[in-house]
Amino acid sequence: MKILVTGGAGFIGSHYVRTLLNDGYDGYDGYDAPEADGGTPDAYAGADVTVLDKLTYAGNRENLPAAHPRLTFVRGDICDAALLDDLLPGHDAVVHFAAESHVDRSVASGAEFVRTNVLGTQTLLEACLRAGVQRFVHVSTDEVYGSIDEGSWTETWPLAPNSPYAASKASSDLVARAYWRTHGLNVSITRCSNNYGPYQHPEKLIPLFVTNLLEGESVPLYGEGANIREWLHVDDHCRAIHLVLNRGRAGEIYNVGGGNERTNRQITEQLLELTGSDWSSVRRVADRKGHDLRYSLDESKIRDELGYAPRIPFEQGIAETVAWYRDNPGWWKAVKSASATAPSQPARTQEPVA
Ligand code: NAD
Ligand code: DAU
Repeated sequence: MKILVTGGAGFIGSHYVRTLLNDGYDGYDGYDAPEADGGTPDAYAGADVTVLDKLTYAGNRENLPAAHPRLTFVRGDICDAALLDDLLPGHDAVVHFAAESHVDRSVASGAEFVRTNVLGTQTLLEACLRAGVQRFVHVSTDEVYGSIDEGSWTETWPLAPNSPYAASKASSDLVARAYWRTHGLNVSITRCSNNYGPYQHPEKLIPLFVTNLLEGESVPLYGEGANIREWLHVDDHCRAIHLVLNRGRAGEIYNVGGGNERTNRQITEQLLELTGSDWSSVRRVADRKGHDLRYSLDESKIRDELGYAPRIPFEQGIAETVAWYRDNPGWWKAVKSASATAPSQPARTQEPVA
C-alpha cells in the first residue's frame, strides 16, 4: 500500500506520518472492532508514505524523520496539477491535511486560504480521479458549523462558517463531497475540534501561551477569555482519521470531538499553573474579529459506527504537552525566530485593551 499525505510537515499531518512510520496503528490499539469484522486489521499497515508539503511558514521538515525507508518527502503545492499528475499514480489513498489553518491570519488576509483550501483541494481531487486513487480522506474542522451557544452539532447541521478560514474549509468540504457524488470518488470527511500536542506552531493558543510563559513573557488573552473550545489530543485525532481511512463510508462525514470543553480563561489558568506562572503574566487584548463563542461536536456517529473512542485524558495530555515544550526549546525557538523575521506577518488583532 502507498499513501500520499498532504500537509504532512505541519502539526497534525506530521503526527499522523510519524505514527504511520512507527507502525503505531497496528491492530488498532484501543479500538474495539465489531465482532463481525474479526479484529479489523489495518489495511494500510506497513504502507509507504509520500508527504507532499509546500513548507509554508507552518510546515517544518524537521517535524519528520530526516530519512526513513518508507518515507518520500516532496516539497510542492497542492495547487500544482502537473506535479500531482507526476506524483499520484501508484498511490492507493490520499489523506489530505494541507491547508492554511490559522484563523487570525485569515482575518488579516483571506486570499491564500481560498487558494490553498478551496482551489488546492479541488485540484487534488481532480488529480486523484485522473490517477485512479481509490480512497480519499479530507481532514476538516468543526469551525464549518459556525458557533453554537448550547447543545452540539451533528454531521447534518447546516454549515454557517464565520471566519474566512472556516468558510474556505466549508467550501472545500462541499467540493470534496461533490467529487464523491458526481464522480464516485471514495471520499470521507472528518471534522475535528481543537487539537493540542507537540509540534504545534506557536501561533496557536496553547503553544503560544506555553512558550511565552516558559520564556517569562506575557500572554495575550482575547476579550473576556470566555470563548469555549473542545480540546482533543492530536494523537486521538490522528487515530480517528486512520480509522475513517480504513472503515469510513464513502460520501460520509465524521465529527471528531473529545468532550473537553474549556473556556480560554480555564485553559490559561491551567497553563499558568503548569508553568509556575500567575495572572500577572496575562495581557487582556482586543478580541478577534467575528470571534466564535463556542464549538461543540456530537460525535456519536464515529463512536457508534466505527467504535472510535479518544484515549488521552485532557489533564494528562496537557501536562505532557507542556513538558514536551519545556524539553524541546530548540524546536519552538527556531520556529518563533523564523516567524519573527518572516517578510509577511499577519496584522494581529490583539492590541491592548485600554
Ligand atoms: P498546520 O498549519 O500546522 O499545517 C499545514 C501544513 O500544510 C503545513 O505543513 C503547510 O506547509 C502545508 N501547506 C499549506 N499550504 C499548502 C499547499 N498549498 N500545498 C501543500 N502544502 C501546503 O495545520 P494543522 O493544524 O496541522 O491542520 C492540518 C489540517 O487539519 C488542516 O486542514 C486543518 O484545517 C485541520 N484541522 C486542524 C485542527 C487544529 O486544531 N489544528 C482541528 C481540526 C482540523
Ligand atoms: O476548532 C478547530 C480549529 O481550531 C481548527 O480548525 C484551526 O485550524 C485551529 O487553528 C483552531 O482554531 P481556533 O481559532 O479555535 O484556535 P486558536 O488556537 O487560534 O485559538 C483558540 C482560542 O484562543 C480562540 O478562542 C482564540 C483564543 N486566543 C488565541 C490566540 C492565538 C487568544 O485568546 N489569544 C491568542 O493569542
